[in-house]
Amino acid sequence: MVFEGGYHGGVFFFASAGGSPINAPFPFIVAQYNDAEGAARLIAEHAHELAAVIVEPLQGSGGVIPGEQAFLQALHQATAAHDVLLVFDEVMTSRLATGGLQKVVGVTPDLTTLGKYLGGGLAFGAFGGRADLMAHFDPSRADALPHAGTFNNAVLTMAAGAAGLTQVYTAGEVKRLNGLGDRLRDRLNGFAAEHDLHFCATGYGSMVGLHFTRGPVRSVADLPAAAELRALLHLRMLEAGYSYARRGFVALSLPLEEPDIDGFAEAVEAFLQRGFAQLGARSS
Ligand SMILES: Cc1ncc(COP(=O)(O)O)c(C=O)c1O
Repeated sequence: MVFEGGYHGGVFFFASAGGSPINAPFPFIVAQYNDAEGAARLIAEHAHELAAVIVEPLQGSGGVIPGEQAFLQALHQATAAHDVLLVFDEVMTSRLATGGLQKVVGVTPDLTTLGKYLGGGLAFGAFGGRADLMAHFDPSRADALPHAGTFNNAVLTMAAGAAGLTQVYTAGEVKRLNGLGDRLRDRLNGFAAEHDLHFCATGYGSMVGLHFTRGPVRSVADLPAAAELRALLHLRMLEAGYSYARRGFVALSLPLEEPDIDGFAEAVEAFLQRGFAQLGARSS
């Protein structure tokens, strides 16, 4: 089972209900993100044929939408009750806390996937979890599952990752960077509320989503199309010297400091102030 808006790689991509046409040909059930009741019902209904539920504890590509604690807890309860595996995709979100977002929400999944920054800037991907599950990959077992790969034994990446986590992206830096994200969200949401705009900033810590809706944004169903507005904002921001992903995805990086955040916020506010009078009416 996956969630609409979920992204777990180029062949596990569920932007729309049917998913990408090049998705791996597994039978998927697609549920609504942050719909605890609906997801628990689907897990119970399909328990006999369901191998796993995979979820980002905060949907990244889908719009930087945090998973509510009660939702993630409900997934944990339902999967445990029906002997279905719960997989947290923390490829993006592990950066948000030492111990990943699972530590923040207090839900321990059966398996976790990791990637990106954890390789200290080099290409990296990993998975891990419950000892009894990982034991299936123990090569000394007669029935071991193979885990071959071009990128295995990537010792340089492992060294870079260890250095990155101990010397660069330390616990203090995690906190500082998350604080910058909070600063950006608080300021932009304050501005939108003050001027009564169809605009909000979502996310958690150093991952921020910019959306042309008042919110709340609990799933991709709450997001307006607003492709033109997103493109216009993005072009204006490039003009002002700020780069992020056009879909409204902002991932803060380590060299940034408070003045950078304030400059970014000012540029967004200038766009909203100048353009929203005409454009806002089309974005609700
Ligand atoms: C949340 C999430 N999961 C999985 C992946 C896929 O990683 P890979 O491209 O290494 O398969 C990504 C990559 O962007 C991602 O953001």
